[in-house]
Amino acid sequence: GKILEVLDQEGLANHTLIYFTSDHGGSLEVQARGAQLGGWNGVYKGGKGMGGWEGGIRVPGIFRWPAALEAGRVIDEPTSLMDIYPTLSFIAGGILPVDRVIDRQNLMPLLEGRARHSNHEFLFHYCGVYLHAVRWHQKDCGTVWKVHYVTPNFSLAGAGACYARGICSCTRDVTYHDPPLLFNISRDPSESQPLSPDNEALFDSVVQKIEEAVHGHRRTLAPAPQQLSVFNSLWKPWLQPCCGNFPLCGCDKEDDM
Ligand SMILES: *[C@@H]1O[C@H](CO)[C@@H](O)[C@H](O)[C@H]1NC(C)=O
Ligand SMILES: *[C@@H]1O[C@H](CO)[C@@H](O)[C@H](O)[C@H]1NC(C)=O
Ligand SMILES: *[C@@H]1O[C@H](CO)[C@@H](O)[C@H](O)[C@H]1NC(C)=O
Repeated sequence: GKILEVLDQEGLANHTLIYFTSDHGGSLEVQARGAQLGGWNGVYKGGKGMGGWEGGIRVPGIFRWPAALEAGRVIDEPTSLMDIYPTLSFIAGGILPVDRVIDRQNLMPLLEGRARHSNHEFLFHYCGVYLHAVRWHQKDCGTVWKVHYVTPNFSLAGAGACYARGICSCTRDVTYHDPPLLFNISRDPSESQPLSPDNEALFDSVVQKIEEAVHGHRRTLAPAPQQLSVFNSLWKPWLQPCCGNFPLCGCDKEDDM
């Protein structure tokens, strides 16, 4: 609100794109002194730290750009936070590198209403480096399917999160599904009724189609330098906004409010 207020005051609002979002869903396990602090993911199952369930990955995306985008439109299409890069590059007139596979999309056609559907056909949902789930946005009928190859074992069982452990693991205490769990997310966003070959005639063909997409996706992967190495994760005062006297930059502005 404060940022929007300054943009309004300075007369910059019309030509500023705001994208309000979150990098993951509510972190259900977070508690302090017996109080639940981790948020609430509504109808969606799971939360932060689960690469597959909607509660961990389905986040709000709220845009404001008065000069370019119509106010109040709601777009119910699968997109990805990785779309930020090609979108901003497009807006700023940049050129995307061609020496790598870029599995992200410029959001502007969708946001401006020039495209009705997101260009994402498949989205691959990882927990760490492990592929846990895949979403298939079937173009011809608009159905969004999702398969889960791996799901965390909740603790306690049925609790909806890994309360006993504090965070779900991506590889230990998980369940491997073969055949995978399949959901029609368009109908069942809370992922409560896994489909089966008995009640979904398309089960085998959908699972196979997604399987082929996974093979294609894996062929495009190449090892990359570890970005979240211990060194890269260390807190570095010289990379922080400094609100004390350098190098004693630490302060908690939220305490002032
Ligand atoms: C922003 O755009 C609106 C609608 O076009 C216009 O009425 C308003 O004057 C503009 N504000 C500024 C500061 O340019
Ligand atoms: C996780 O749950 C699955 C299915 O109930 C079970 O087979 C597996 O042993 C569990 N993993 C652990 C580490 O308890
Ligand atoms: C998936 O669910 C949506 C919403 O209920 C429905 O319109 C669509 O037909 C379903 N897709 C399939 C292939 O059953």
